[in-house]
Amino acid sequence: MDCYSENYNYSNTILRKNNVNDILSLKKKGEKIAVLSAYDYCTSVICDKAGVDILLVGDSAGMVMLGYERTATVGLEEMLVFCKGVSMGTKRAMVVADLPFGSYQPGTGAALENAIRFIKVGCDAVKLEGGSELVDTIKALVAVGIPVMGHIGLKPQTASLWEGYKVQAKTKDSSMKLIAEARALEQAGVFSIVLEMVTSEVAKIISKNLSIAVIGIGSGSDCDGQILVLHDILGVYENIRPKFAKRYADLSDSIFRAVTGYRTDVKSGKFPEDQNVFHMDPNEYRELQRELEKDS
Ligand code: KIV
Repeated sequence: MDCYSENYNYSNTILRKNNVNDILSLKKKGEKIAVLSAYDYCTSVICDKAGVDILLVGDSAGMVMLGYERTATVGLEEMLVFCKGVSMGTKRAMVVADLPFGSYQPGTGAALENAIRFIKVGCDAVKLEGGSELVDTIKALVAVGIPVMGHIGLKPQTASLWEGYKVQAKTKDSSMKLIAEARALEQAGVFSIVLEMVTSEVAKIISKNLSIAVIGIGSGSDCDGQILVLHDILGVYENIRPKFAKRYADLSDSIFRAVTGYRTDVKSGKFPEDQNVFHMDPNEYRELQRELEKDS
């Protein structure tokens, strides 16, 4: 590869995707890890250019992109399409595929088979929700070389079936249990865990005591990194507005105004303008008219 290759960036260093070591070295250096959930090619190109370290193709895609009521509904084939789009749009960020509900619970064989499909479409790692009950599955994935991200605290795939979306680790006992789950995942071989809606005190303890990258969502500022859903920070997804999500734009208003403007212009004939139109060569057009006149 020479320095004119598109795989070189402007500072002449090789432009390649973040791997597990890159992510862990961010933690070692004390540099916070920026993660977003994204679901398609176009927005992934932008996120990648903006320097996000990891793009998660979250199963929240089921709600945000398909309008499902909960994440557990999204299917494997649907997630594979989203993952392909994100992988195609990403040159630098690590792409993590969220294994959808039902694709890893049946057992190690199913988890391996399905995780490999996500690697085949260009993902660099997989995420699964759960704690010590998944230790054997995680070990099997890591043994064949697939990096795994865990997800504990609030587990949206099943939370709505039990107690709903509640803050986790509010008591000493539940905190001790969560800390043990985090340790079990680390020992099983995950390189990172998502901690969702965990009290900031416990999230801090877990982040400080584990050597893996702890990515928080609604779990305070002491985690090694943060994750939010792209559509939440852009202000596009209106169905749920979680307390932990910060809006950096109000794109739904901008999109509404753009679409209204387009509709009005089409109805009034203001669009398309001459600059949006393709013309025939005037001589060809004259000949065409003559030809048509002959026929009539
Ligand atoms: O599905 C998702 O996007 C997630 C993150 C919000 C952690 O699991």
